[in-house]
Amino acid sequence: MVDLELSNEYNFTKEDVIELLLSDGKELFELADKVRARYVGDGIHLRGLIEFSNICKRNCAYCGIQSSNKLAQRYRLNEDEILELAKKGVDFGYKTIVLQSGEDDYFSKDVMCRIIERIKELDVALTLSIGERSYEDYKAFKDCGADRYLLRIETTDSKLYKKLHPNMSFENRMECLYNLKELGYETGTGCLVGLPEQTVESLADDILFFKKLDADMVGIGPFIPHPETPLAGELNPDNFWMSLKVMAVTRLMLKDVNIPATTAMETINPNGRVLALTSGANVVMPNITLGECKRKYEIYPNKSGTEKDAEDYVASLVEKINSIGRFVSSNKGFRSPLK
Ligand code: 5AD
Repeated sequence: MVDLELSNEYNFTKEDVIELLLSDGKELFELADKVRARYVGDGIHLRGLIEFSNICKRNCAYCGIQSSNKLAQRYRLNEDEILELAKKGVDFGYKTIVLQSGEDDYFSKDVMCRIIERIKELDVALTLSIGERSYEDYKAFKDCGADRYLLRIETTDSKLYKKLHPNMSFENRMECLYNLKELGYETGTGCLVGLPEQTVESLADDILFFKKLDADMVGIGPFIPHPETPLAGELNPDNFWMSLKVMAVTRLMLKDVNIPATTAMETINPNGRVLALTSGANVVMPNITLGECKRKYEIYPNKSGTEKDAEDYVASLVEKINSIGRFVSSNKGFRSPLK
């Protein structure tokens, strides 16, 4: 049996991780909450998310905005619209803006650099989540002021990865992650939990990979089938609990990293956000994209938060955060406290 005592170091083997993932999770969640408190404290970082384009050249089997989904209503915000949303985020008090989109080639290196420079004038940390790009592009974005980058590996099972990502390369995705690290980004990765054919063994490998990469941020969420994709089908309610366990073990092994309570967790469990925040998570990414576009950025159905105005959402979120004895952090929330 794995010893679940409060400690400064958890060097779990793959077998240990598997055992934890197969446990009921109760002890694990409590311990992950303690480790979270010890290493990152009670502050919760809010990152304002802007979904600025759902146009995507990729065809990921699970994703609702995959290029073959002809029913997806596509949109692309222009630079001024993106800036307006970023300012709105700053007005809400967010210290980080996250720019996320499908892999939309309209946003060339130069276009992105202009947007990055304008947002950085607002004195916020900036995270990009725009997929696989060349080393040169990543370097240019960093030189313009981008601080962080999110690129989930999705699964470290390379065979499954290839099946789910037609015409993409697992090796290239890995290389992108190592390039981001080398360029000095705070680098976020993560995985989907509950993909068809995914095993507990491969989830354990995912966690060991986060550790090996020395990821600065790790986003973990349940797979939620989208009806207009080849993986449409029944939602497996176990995905929520397994995601929570993967997240909690990640907290134990990576200690001081930033871990979001993901929107997907909130979507499939009405108390998902709070359960995540009390089982290792310390970040929430409220959406600041406006009504119509927010609805159209449908990577999976019934995405939580789409029904609410951004203002109402923040208010209810802050209330929730305070109700569990935590507070909204007033700093930029870098992993490295020196920044
Ligand atoms: N269910 C849950 N998460 C999904 N994502 C994409 N499609 C789905 C889905 N059907 C996640 C991917 C991606 C992130 C932005 O959204 O992990 O990296």
